[in-house]
Amino acid sequence: MLETKRRVIGQMIICQGCCCGATQKERPAVPANWLKEEWRKRGLLKRFQLTVSGCVGPCDIPNVVVVNSQTGSQWLGHITEFNQYRSLLEWAVRSVGAGHLLELPREFKDHLMEPWR
Ligand code: FES
Repeated sequence: MLETKRRVIGQMIICQGCCCGATQKERPAVPANWLKEEWRKRGLLKRFQLTVSGCVGPCDIPNVVVVNSQTGSQWLGHITEFNQYRSLLEWAVRSVGAGHLLELPREFKDHLMEPWR
């Protein structure tokens, strides 16, 4: 098996595609540049992968965020408020501090979704 030198505890995929963040279609914004900047300022880059992606699929539930880790994937939808992205950032900071992904904050319980059927 191939082994990477990168040691990340997880990856956060922020969807910014044809629907998520498509403010020209009156969809809620995705603060992708703010997140990238905070990821850098807060020293997360080497420990928690941040990926701003094109469409990841479930466009009917924008905005979508996917969290991948050794234990699997968690898909979130309707991440429409700036404060939710801020909360995900703070959670990522705490997780990196702990050395592993912590449980997602409770506020995201109703945002979890199952994309596979
Ligand atoms: S644009 Fe985000 S799921 Fe399609």
